[in-house]
Amino acid sequence: MRKILEDYLNWSSQLKRALTAEVLNPASLDVGSLSGIAFVGMGGSGIIGDIVAKYLEREVATPVVVVKSFALPKYVDSKWLVVAVSYSGNTLETLTVFSEAARRRVKLAAVSSGGRLMELAEKLGVSRIYVESGYLPRVALPSMLAKTVVLLNKLTNLKIDIERGVEILKDVEGPEAARELANFLSGGLPVFVVTENMYPLGIRAKNEMNENAKIACKVEVLPEWGHNDVVGWESTPRDLVKIVVLRDGFTELADFAAEYLRKLNYSLKVLEVGRVGYFETVLYGSWVIGLASVLLASIRGVNSESTESIEHYKQFIHSYLKFYI
Ligand code: F6R
Repeated sequence: MRKILEDYLNWSSQLKRALTAEVLNPASLDVGSLSGIAFVGMGGSGIIGDIVAKYLEREVATPVVVVKSFALPKYVDSKWLVVAVSYSGNTLETLTVFSEAARRRVKLAAVSSGGRLMELAEKLGVSRIYVESGYLPRVALPSMLAKTVVLLNKLTNLKIDIERGVEILKDVEGPEAARELANFLSGGLPVFVVTENMYPLGIRAKNEMNENAKIACKVEVLPEWGHNDVVGWESTPRDLVKIVVLRDGFTELADFAAEYLRKLNYSLKVLEVGRVGYFETVLYGSWVIGLASVLLASIRGVNSESTESIEHYKQFIHSYLKFYI
């Protein structure tokens, strides 16, 4: 556990190092003239697409989608930009979609530490940026996020600034908040309740609980929460779950949900993740929850680093999709 814990504790320096990076073969694109941007990637790499897409959705008029699949949507054509993110560069879903995008002559960019994706990107002569190797993909979130932002800023007229994250990830209260969260979560199935503007953080929280703490986890998103989940809580066994309401800018809705669930006698914690801006909030929340998931693994007596079931799945799709490799 020591290595993974140290890697999370050193997120600030990981982010700082990643902000100074070279983009190979940079294209020159105006976001306004693109028909859309699609982020492609799975798991710990795919979350980067979720995070950036949620930001862009409110900043640019160009459609932005996230693809976590073997299939590239039909509407993605040569006027689109596809950004593939894969830490290993060997994820089949990502490679399949990237190859299909190349076939359709879509504008391409790749973020990775190497693998088939970078071989392909080099062969095609497309824009690409290398991510620092040596981490588990989920632990490389600051690096992958920073490299994706550096890439987008270089390729397009976007000016995304995530530098303040370097200071945010030094917050001495973060590790303590993580310890409290891990203790709270022990003994129940974690459920994260988030507002829609923080949906990527909810998904990230679930993934971290799955991959580090080896436990199933649920995410509920407001305001949709008020149209279905809210009813489910009427008669769920009270001792089954530990509910964490992530609180940031959209506080009224989060507070309403917390109040409702508390009245029903669920074990509930409100976690203040709000920081000065969107990326800062996502980085800080991901840091605290990531650390908590590693500490929870130790409380539960499981190995936070190994993800055998993912390897098992990957072996299955490799043999299933023999035609590809
Ligand atoms: C996270 C993790 C997985 C991978 C996913 C995709 O630590 O191991 O969620 O991120 O299987 O693989 P990559 O990131 O290499 O494309």
